[in-house]
Amino acid sequence: MVIKWSLARILFLSIIGLTIATSIHGKIVHSRNSPNNKPSESSHPAKSYSDSRHGRIARSAESISANPPAIALPESGPAGPVSDGSSSLVTATEQELNIGIVGEGVVGLSTATAILELNPKAKITIYHDKPFEEILSRGIAGLFRVDDGSDINKLYGNDTFVRLAQLWREYGGLSGVQLLSGHIVSTDKRKLNDQEGNYGKIVTNFRWLKDEELHGVNSVFGYGPNITAGIHYTAFTSEGIRYCPFMKQQLLAKGVKFVQKKLASVDDLAEEGHPIVVNCGGFNGGELAGDDAGNMIPIRGVLLKMDASWHKHFLYLDYTTITIPTIDTVYVGTVKQEGVDGPMHILPEDVEDVWRRYEPIQPALRRARQIGHFVGIRPGRKQIRVEAEDRTTKSGKKYRLVHNYGHGGNGFTLAYGSGLHAAHLALGVKTDRYDGIVPSPLLKDPVKKTWKKAEEFYKEGLNLKSG
Ligand SMILES: Cc1cc2nc3c(=O)[nH]c(=O)nc-3n(C[C@H](O)[C@H](O)[C@H](O)COP(=O)(O)OP(=O)(O)OC[C@H]3O[C@@H](n4cnc5c(N)ncnc54)[C@H](O)[C@@H]3O)c2cc1C
Ligand SMILES: *[C@@H]1O[C@H](CO)[C@@H](O)[C@H](O)[C@H]1NC(C)=O
Ligand SMILES: *[C@@H]1O[C@H](CO)[C@@H](O)[C@H](O)[C@H]1NC(C)=O
Repeated sequence: MVIKWSLARILFLSIIGLTIATSIHGKIVHSRNSPNNKPSESSHPAKSYSDSRHGRIARSAESISANPPAIALPESGPAGPVSDGSSSLVTATEQELNIGIVGEGVVGLSTATAILELNPKAKITIYHDKPFEEILSRGIAGLFRVDDGSDINKLYGNDTFVRLAQLWREYGGLSGVQLLSGHIVSTDKRKLNDQEGNYGKIVTNFRWLKDEELHGVNSVFGYGPNITAGIHYTAFTSEGIRYCPFMKQQLLAKGVKFVQKKLASVDDLAEEGHPIVVNCGGFNGGELAGDDAGNMIPIRGVLLKMDASWHKHFLYLDYTTITIPTIDTVYVGTVKQEGVDGPMHILPEDVEDVWRRYEPIQPALRRARQIGHFVGIRPGRKQIRVEAEDRTTKSGKKYRLVHNYGHGGNGFTLAYGSGLHAAHLALGVKTDRYDGIVPSPLLKDPVKKTWKKAEEFYKEGLNLKSG
């Protein structure tokens, strides 16, 4: 039932979703007729999400009927899939550019988009094992922030930022992209120095907060922790629940096909007839690659979804204690349980841990109503794997394989940039803009490790790290 609704929603979004003008009108209707007042909701994550989505569908339908017909999405590239000419040369090119992509998360969708930007003639099929409703990217608020400021990540981050700015100008929130400002405070100024280095030149309005902003009578922060430093900047969110369906809609309009199928290995797509395969399998990327499962590290995270539309700036205490306002709700979080791969439902300890850290910096938020929650596993890896190689399947099919996975906690921030890099490799385009800053590949490690569950993690007191 839940899945049925979810599919209906996707379809619905595909047709008209982009005209959802998540209007003030919609919000008022929502809060008046809210079906979500039950406190027991948190024990049924999927249901609580699908209920609220159902609400949104109904509202969209209302506002659509009063509005002009759905916006036809303009193509951002020069042309759609090849339709002209029938020479064998074109056919050969088509065959060569028959690309199979694993994954319809933010990384797979961004990579497909980037490939079509570089070559609109590419013929792409995207494979995914689960419905979009059940994958990580769907639940994420997607604030732009870079954890690891390697040169390659700075390039990926900047390329993504430029892309998000373009979407913001052309589509605004209809693309799932939102312009957003906010603050990061810390009890340790050194941590924030790193942030300035990682993305201070990419985002806009980056500045250090003055002491009176941190502590004075005008301060917007709670006094609980001994905050000693703070930064402000303006960037974008690209929230999974809107941004991914937006990209998918654009891709469908350009002839990209989507196939739900569980793959055992990247070889499967070569066997399906794709001479070029791109692995955007997220946490499963290492296992699908066959030589990298042991390099993947699960990092469990949780988000509580709050009805607090008055909260219009992100607020972080270091990088784990956070709020991110999305277009119509606010996410509060989180945990970063490294080496923990479950459970996929929320625990009372998670909720307690989040509020214990967040409440001191903004007591007001606790007064807001919780309307949902999300649990996800970040696809951790020492570095993102963007690499190309030539492989041959057991049956002798040769193919080009490009990897693009392992984005950890920054997938939305880095996806378009790393997708553009992967697109260069997939299409054999000159890679000079990447040369010299690509990190050397990690040693191969095919052996999948066994990981902890969160209950164990809490028992050992590993959650007591602050920040
Ligand atoms: C709590 C939390 C908060 C976060 N906040 C942010 C943030 O603010 N900003 C930010 O930039 N990032 C954030 N992230 C990180 C971000 O969510 C991830 O980096 C990103 O979603 C990874 O996307 P992906 O496409 O690689 O993976 P996924 O979304 O997991 O997609 C993987 C795809 O591969 C497919 N697949 C996997 N295995 C197979 C198989 N065997 N056969 C076929 N298909 C397969 C799946 O069906 C799916 O379509 C956050 C993460 C968490 C957990
Ligand atoms: C980001 O990319 C744009 C466009 O290529 C470029 O003009 C700008 O200088 C880059 N910014 C940074 C900080 O690299
Ligand atoms: C803040 O600092 C004071 C003294 O420096 C200390 O007594 C107090 O416990 C600290 N508070 C927190 C929340 O760390």
